[in-house]
Amino acid sequence: MSIEHAEQDTVTFRVEGKIAWVRFHRPEKRNCMSPKLNRQMMRVLEQLEFREDVGVLVLTGEGTAWSAGMDLKEYFRETEAAGLGAMRNAQREAYGWWRRLRWYQKPTIAMVNGWCFGGGYGPLFACDLAFAADEAMFGLSEVNWGILPGGGASKVATELLSFRNAMYHAMMGENIDGKTAAAWGLVNESHPLDKLEARVTAVANVLLKKNPVALKATKDAVRRAREMTYDNAEDYLIRAQEAANSFDNHGRKEGMRQFIDDKTYKPGLGAYEKSR
Ligand code: ACO
Repeated sequence: MSIEHAEQDTVTFRVEGKIAWVRFHRPEKRNCMSPKLNRQMMRVLEQLEFREDVGVLVLTGEGTAWSAGMDLKEYFRETEAAGLGAMRNAQREAYGWWRRLRWYQKPTIAMVNGWCFGGGYGPLFACDLAFAADEAMFGLSEVNWGILPGGGASKVATELLSFRNAMYHAMMGENIDGKTAAAWGLVNESHPLDKLEARVTAVANVLLKKNPVALKATKDAVRRAREMTYDNAEDYLIRAQEAANSFDNHGRKEGMRQFIDDKTYKPGLGAYEKSR
């Protein structure tokens, strides 16, 4: 029996305790990314980005997959049949939400519960942090069906992996599990599937205690600085901090005050109390 989700059902979310749990929701198609899903994901991201009750966004998948990459039928075959304009449009829709996620206002965490292939590396890299199940499987399977790892996948591999691992991963089309993905630097950590959500919740709760202006400035700084010379980065980081100061003068001063005057915490050992 073939299940056809309406466009708005291809992504689901719930907000709980200031964490937005966003799910790829085509489990019967292993959450592969169709144009419908890509459009819906952009809508969901837009809807959640500036909500007061959202402090962290977690991206995960329903069922056995995180995402089995691009939908070979709906994203490739059907758009190719419709011509160059349709292909370019489908690419814009996919790359568009990955880009939006790379520069998202709130901290983002990929919770990779299962299969993660090819195009899935776009949103994987777009998330600031990534935690995988030991049981998850990661693969640049493009070479297995006769294409190169496009849509940013080769870029993600070279950004996150050593040259040798990136080359092996891309050329061999072999999968690695969550533990190997963590050892290779593709994700931060790997945990047994039944412990994964608890670990991600704990990480999200730590982030929720930090100054949100500082977090956004920090995540952008880490992404930008990768591409800069040392001198350019030094300059950018001064400007970025000055911009953050004018956005949130209070938080920084309060952090300084609680350390220097109140002596209620040490920045080297934890975050200041935001609620004061
Ligand atoms: N594109 C289109 N359909 C897909 C995709 C995909 N990427 N992945 C899974 N599906 C469909 C299957 O065709 C199948 O559809 P059907 O029920 O109508 O026959 C359904 O999802 C379930 O898939 P199965 O293969 O039966 O699931 P299984 O759990 O046995 O295997 C696995 C999971 C290993 C993920 C397998 O589905 C697979 O190899 N998928 C393709 C992975 C891939 O290489 N993705 C492309 C990467 S390259 C890129 O993204 C540019």
